[in-house]
Parts: sequence; structure tokens; C-alpha cells
Amino acid sequence: MSRTKGRYQQNLRADAARVLFQILEQGMSARECLPNAQQDHNEKDKAWLQEMTYGVLRQLPLLQHWLRLLLDKPLKKNVKIVEHLIMLGFYQLAFSRVSTHAAVSECVNACAPLNAVATKGLVNAVLRNFIRQEMANELPDNEQILSGQPKWLYKKLLTAYPEKHTPILEAMQVKAPIWLRVNQNQKSTDEYCRLLDENDIIYERQDEQPQGLILSKGCDITTLPGYDEGWFAVQDGAAQLAANLLNSQPNERILDCCAAPGGKTCHILELEPKIASCVAMDIDLSRLQRIEENLTRLGHQASLICGDASEPKAWWNGEQFDRILLDAPCSATGIIRRHPDIKWLRKSSDIDTLVALQAKIIDAIWPLLKPGGTMLYATCSILPAENQLQISAFLERTTDAALDPEFNNDAIDKPGRQILPGEKNMDGFYYARLLKS
Ligand SMILES: C[S@@+](CC[C@H](N)C(=O)[O-])C[C@H]1O[C@@H](n2cnc3c(N)ncnc32)[C@H](O)[C@@H]1O
Repeated sequence: MSRTKGRYQQNLRADAARVLFQILEQGMSARECLPNAQQDHNEKDKAWLQEMTYGVLRQLPLLQHWLRLLLDKPLKKNVKIVEHLIMLGFYQLAFSRVSTHAAVSECVNACAPLNAVATKGLVNAVLRNFIRQEMANELPDNEQILSGQPKWLYKKLLTAYPEKHTPILEAMQVKAPIWLRVNQNQKSTDEYCRLLDENDIIYERQDEQPQGLILSKGCDITTLPGYDEGWFAVQDGAAQLAANLLNSQPNERILDCCAAPGGKTCHILELEPKIASCVAMDIDLSRLQRIEENLTRLGHQASLICGDASEPKAWWNGEQFDRILLDAPCSATGIIRRHPDIKWLRKSSDIDTLVALQAKIIDAIWPLLKPGGTMLYATCSILPAENQLQISAFLERTTDAALDPEFNNDAIDKPGRQILPGEKNMDGFYYARLLKS
């Protein structure tokens, strides 16, 4: 990887270490801190920053294992950030094509902008030891460390999928492809594909996503045909199933519950422009503004409500809906391949809290559905507690709720459809379609 020389180069490593510090020590999400770090860099370096920080987040347990072997004792609080710089160095040496010389010298040079000049010698020594001892070939005999997942999540996946946890863990480490959803109000999928052909952009299509396509190579999506005109949106193939499964019909009232940033709201509006109304609600005002931006970019309209889905009395006008999409807040374990910071931001105890919140929301929202109406429950989780077990428990306590027999259920005792990460190029996702009698 060729890089510009000088001060700028040092700042790039320092910026990557800062992002890692903010995520791993301060609990910020990559979405919050990466754009800040990227803003003064050119496009190539922006991509590099994401590639490197995501790479470290993917391989963190192994990098920490090497750090424990090579560092006598943890660094003091005021230079803790240097541990992240060293792990970035390990990552470059073990997983990237950057030359060993550049990896070492650039990490050493990054100590100054991190206010840790005194650690230069240490960083140099640890990285040189890593090379001399050929640590990159030194892999522990420990599936959890090699899986790249935190212990708690590794254990949960092992319990949930005793027979197929290995391919699931592997798929969670593979970078996700870019999926587009063609905005049918502007272009048909075929028309848009012809534009991609004319621009020599290679893609694939799948039957399950009639409005979708997968780009064969990563790219800057703002350079794709019709970005400014709103001819497409970026949305994973699993998320694209939601509006299709909701299957809205003309003149129906639709509620998109927990809707921000509005990817599925826009898709619902594109699939059936003749619905009577679509209400998109979310608890987070700043995220609700992102729904507004997405609706405007794609040329759609919906009514937006800021409210708590578990307390509909505060915001619902009493008119029931024909169909409800409930895209519940969840662990997001199905999209770790796309957002590897998630696994370090979540804790095991968060899962119980989320399961309780999901149950509270589904119970509170069910009365908003008309008799004969359809609710699609969705999560981007692969943990049974949030999915099949959640829905089984709901069905048990709700006499007027039943599974839609036309919807593909995994098995009689496993309601709904669990999509695993990487399956047909999709993120991990869960859907259950429920009917109200
Ligand atoms: C999985 S995301 C939704 C993604 C969205 N449906 C889309 O396709 O773009 C979950 C959303 O639930 C919202 N949320 C969390 N707790 C909520 C609550 N109690 N009431 C309403 N929304 C909530 C979050 O703000 C977040 O935007």
C-alpha cells in the first residue's frame, strides 16, 4: 500500500489508534467516531482508516492474545492508547500487505501525535519482537480467540447452534457486500441494471430480492448512476425482505414501528404507492430526522412520530393499522460482519434487557393492529432469545395471535425464519409473520 510521506502519514496511524480507543475504551460506536477521524483525509485514506480499524475490531481477541505475550504488563492509563497502536501494528504485520518496515516505523512515528513520545522505544521493540518471533504464525489452540468474537457471544452461539457454529462464526468475519435497492418510483430494477452495464459496473441479482442487486466490488456509492436523484438506496438483502414480506395492499394503513433511519419505510412506500398512509415511528429524534432525509432523497412521504413503542397511549390516535412492521431494537448480532464494533459495544447482560424490551413493545403494539391484520416482527439478531423464543412466548400469551401458515417457518417448534450471516449473501436477520384473528 503506497502512502504519502511525512507528518500526514503519522497522523493516519494515530487517528486509527484514536478511533480504536474511543470504541474499545470509551464505548463510542464507529458510526459516532470514525467520520470525525476521517474528515481531514482524502478518499483513499478515509477508506484505509475504515479498513484498518474494522480489521482490528474483527481480529481483536487474537491481537490481544499477542499483546499479552509480548507486553510484560498493561500500559498505564495515560498511554493506554498505545496498546491500540501496537495492535494496529500487529494487524498490519499479520493481515495486511503493508511492508514490515513501514508497519513498524509508521507506528513508532504515530507515538508523537498521540502524546506518547516516551513509548516510541517500547512500540519499536514490541513490533520487532513480533516479527522476529514470527508471531503471526503463532495461533493459539482456542476457537473463541480465533473466531474473533467476545467470549460471551461465542458461548451463546455455541449453545444456540451446536452443530453449525463454526460456519456461522466464519461468516461473521467476512466483509459484507454492498447491496442496493432500486427505487421503483424512479427506475425499474432492469432499467437500473442496464445503467450499471453501460458503466461497466458488475453486479449480481437474486430471486428473493426483486428490487435488489449486489455489487461485485466495493465502491464509492455516491459515484453510482442516480445517487443524487435517489434512484437507489443501500440496503442489505435481508433487510429488503421486510417490505416484500409485509406485502402492503392498496388503501391500507401501515405502521412502521422502530423505523429509523427509514430504510424499510422507503421500501414499503416504493412497493405499494397506493397505500392509504404510512406512519413511521421511532423513539430517537435525531434518528427520526434521518428518516426525513431518506424520504426526501428518495422522493417519498410518510407521517413521522417520535415516541416510545412500549407506551403507544402517548402517541397513538386510536385508529388501528392493517399491517405493522415491528423492526425491534435488538443485539444486532446478525450484522456484525458489517459493523464489527457491535460485538465490543454489547455486553451479555444487554441481551436480557433487550429481550424484555422486545416483549414489552410487541405486547404494547399488538392492540394497534386491526383484527385480520398482519404484523411482521423483525430483528437483525441471530440469538434465539430475541427471535424464535420471543415469538413462541408471545404466541403462548396472546390468544388472538397466530403464525401466518403461508410464511416459511423454520420448523414447527421454531416459528419464523432465521437467516444466518452470509446465507445467500445476506446479513443475519429474523422474520416472523403474525396474523390477528
Ligand atoms: C433495528 S433499528 C430500525 C431500523 C429501521 N427499521 C430501518 O430499516 O432503517 C431499531 C430502532 O428502534 C428504535 N427504538 C429503540 N427503542 C425504541 C422504543 N422503545 N420505541 C420506539 N423505537 C425504539 C431505535 O431508535 C432504532 O432506530
